[in-house]
Amino acid sequence: SVDDQKLITLSLRGDDRGSLCVIEGERDTGFPIARVYYIFGTQADVARGFHAHRALRQLAVCVSGSCTMMLDDGHSRRSVVLDRPDLAVTIGPMIWREMYDFSDDAVLMVLADQHYDEADYIRDYETFLAMARAS
Ligand code: TYD
Repeated sequence: SVDDQKLITLSLRGDDRGSLCVIEGERDTGFPIARVYYIFGTQADVARGFHAHRALRQLAVCVSGSCTMMLDDGHSRRSVVLDRPDLAVTIGPMIWREMYDFSDDAVLMVLADQHYDEADYIRDYETFLAMARAS
């Protein structure tokens, strides 16, 4: 459910030179990292996402700037503001997500436990709802 998606505070190592933030596979993500991608240069007023995954597990961090991520499990919705480089949100299987309110400098980094596989996507909201409510 959306309540099972965790907000994680990542370990931040700051010293007089600046900051360093760490994400370790398994320990911080809860899964082995197979893929990393990031979204940046998002045009103003653009929303992205609009899909769920059948099996993929992900961890999202806005490493620069900010954006809002709406999570939907087919029963309830929850919005998370990602506005710190040390704040991550987990996105498990069968969670519909929509991202919007990207700042100009937003870089949304996503770690995933599988390589890209279009067959794992559910891109039609009605199909997602039917599947989510059946399970
Ligand atoms: P898309 O899933 O539509 O982005 P969003 O996160 O906004 O839903 O991905 C955009 C394009 O990039 C689409 O053609 C698929 C491709 N893509 C890959 O090839 N590999 C990847 O790991 C990802 C995430 C996307």
